[in-house]
Amino acid sequence: MLNRREFLAITGVGGAAMLLSHAAPLRATSEKEVRAMAYTAKDYSKLIGMEGFSETLLKNHFTLYQGYVTNTNKVMDILNQMLKDGKTGTPEFAELKRRLGWEFNGMRLHEFYFENLGGKGGINKDGKLAKKMSVDFGSYEMWEKDFRAVGAMRGIGWAVLYQDPMNGRLVNFWINEHDVSHPAGCNPLLIMDVFEHAFMIDYGLKRADYIEAFFKNINWSAAEDRLK
Ligand SMILES: [Fe+2]
Repeated sequence: MLNRREFLAITGVGGAAMLLSHAAPLRATSEKEVRAMAYTAKDYSKLIGMEGFSETLLKNHFTLYQGYVTNTNKVMDILNQMLKDGKTGTPEFAELKRRLGWEFNGMRLHEFYFENLGGKGGINKDGKLAKKMSVDFGSYEMWEKDFRAVGAMRGIGWAVLYQDPMNGRLVNFWINEHDVSHPAGCNPLLIMDVFEHAFMIDYGLKRADYIEAFFKNINWSAAEDRLK
């Protein structure tokens, strides 16, 4: 026996909502749509020529970044296929899910990093970001001292200036691997790559010299635009 909902659906008396729920059922995403959602590596070649960054170093870094984009797409495709094939309970699925955070953040952090480079001149001391740094750190100089110290920490990783949207506070974080120790829900404003590939070609072990070069090329307006 039909219930009321089934009866209305069959007889077409159910109104637009009922029509929609039956005429346009959810369908699986097509291969074409999946391809359209794939990530594309961005072109940062305009950064070539930056003072303190050789063309060789930058080109190597772009190639490494492109690898993260390729692998993010690849891992997502495989995981999608495993879901369709009913293989979600496998160790392979679990390991690839773990891998996804690393590849994805490797892609996105490099994009933030390249996009906050290519600037000239220091921070606008009258701008909203410098003023916020003064409030949260005592002065811009104190923020810079803290950020440089984070960047100089032993080990590979990222120095990231985050803003906590809960209270607006700025905090410098050390991010070890790409997928580890990001503060949940916070907004990255300024990213500095301190993996060795980011500087060794040009500076060897002199990381402080690389940090100096980084500071000379920060695109402060890009960082300020990320401020909420
Ligand atoms: Fe990097």
